[in-house]
Amino acid sequence: MKIFLDTADVEAIRQGVALGVVDGVTTNPTLAAKAGRGFKETVLEIAEICPGPVSAETVGLEADQIVKEGRILAKWAPNIIVKVPLLAEGLKAVKQLTEEGIKTNVTLVFSPAQALLAAKAGATFVSPFLGRYDDIGQEGMQLVRDIVKIYRNYDFKTEVLAASIRSPLHVVEAALAGADIGTMPPKVLEQMIQHPLTDKGLASFLKDWETVPDAKTVFEELEGRR
Ligand code: G3P
Repeated sequence: MKIFLDTADVEAIRQGVALGVVDGVTTNPTLAAKAGRGFKETVLEIAEICPGPVSAETVGLEADQIVKEGRILAKWAPNIIVKVPLLAEGLKAVKQLTEEGIKTNVTLVFSPAQALLAAKAGATFVSPFLGRYDDIGQEGMQLVRDIVKIYRNYDFKTEVLAASIRSPLHVVEAALAGADIGTMPPKVLEQMIQHPLTDKGLASFLKDWETVPDAKTVFEELEGRR
């Protein structure tokens, strides 16, 4: 499963990429507003820090306008993915952009029927928002499972990008469901690293290590001081 960061916070992306486990980035207009700087400079910086796909969202509501915006965004950097909302006009735009070889991420997907249409339009990625679906009392993970199943049934190449992830459990369940990608806030990636038993085990290993007769000299050698 690929891991994307769902943020426009350049520093958080830099730290995530340095961990060596981040494969891409997704942004949206809300995240861009939170970053509090120019959208273009932010996206360009992100696209340079992260060599993988970086989604940047269109804001037009007519197919022609979305296509125009998409062509421009795609020229900003070779790894930019044009994020398009799931609207009838958005589907038309995705079809056109796909024909032009521009990669797309269809966003704000809340039903398998919508996801089926996104794949038919040729979307590179589809983004079901599982957390927001949970928020209205529905089962977000079932949405991911259904989309994965439909895409496998028909061998669609569109990748399932589980979005609106709120916890490490969401990531694990999306992975079990077969999602190709999970996009998550940096906080969730940090939480995935943590486990109290890891901390407890490490503390006891380090304590016991001090009683090993040559601990000090071995440590010095490992540190390159010997
Ligand atoms: O980027 C889209 C999506 O991941 C948003 O998540 O937490 O605002 O529902 P959230």
